Amino acid sequence: SESDSARFKRQAAEHAVEAIQPGMVVGLGSGSTAAFVVRRLAELRTEGRLRDVVGVPTSRATEALALSLGVPLTTLEERPVLDLAIDGADEVDPRLGLIKGGGGALLREKIVAQASRRLLIVVDEAKLSPRLGTRWPVPVDVLPFGWRSQVLFLEGLGARVTRREGPDGSPFLTDQGHFVLDCAWGPLDAPEALAERLAARAGLVEHGLFLGLTSELVVAGTRGIEVRRP
Ligand code: A5P
Repeated sequence: SESDSARFKRQAAEHAVEAIQPGMVVGLGSGSTAAFVVRRLAELRTEGRLRDVVGVPTSRATEALALSLGVPLTTLEERPVLDLAIDGADEVDPRLGLIKGGGGALLREKIVAQASRRLLIVVDEAKLSPRLGTRWPVPVDVLPFGWRSQVLFLEGLGARVTRREGPDGSPFLTDQGHFVLDCAWGPLDAPEALAERLAARAGLVEHGLFLGLTSELVVAGTRGIEVRRP
């Protein structure tokens, strides 16, 4: 039987899929909640609906899942503007700012989010947070070249920094072959200012603060499904 958390994730995902219209190009997020989006989309297709929808996957894992379920895919090269992207998040603040990158796919996720006319975020209620950084460190995607210099830079900004490891203890590598530095600052007072500092640094390819990008949040929990807009 499904856990509460899995049920909430599935409910949020299935609600968000209602926003997909025939003919749309849809960004497909990464993680367990986004996987429910892909599964629901595949179900609708077997019912004969949304057959002409195409997806752009944000990770190799999502790509493999979509292909295994027969969901047609395209690329940003073919379709550089998306109608909609649906993705999960690790933490959501009251202004619908996000921390993403728990699965390490933040670079492609942010590219797809910024290429989309609308970004729908799907979460279970456990992801809601009064301030970003309360529940989750900020993942930072860095080039392996110079990564130790980036650790010192991030520590200089007050973070406790851990290089993410894979299951065998070797460095976790993103789909692009980059490292992920998980940066614990604790609850952030000024996420925008931090995001600017991180964006200005060469070698920090991208960071997991997604600010001002969410069009709609679908959150599911014990009191049902709620849709919020910024
Ligand atoms: C992937 O890089 C993350 O941004 C995911 O969106 C995040 O980790 C959410 O994962 P779950 O849906 O599994 O909680």
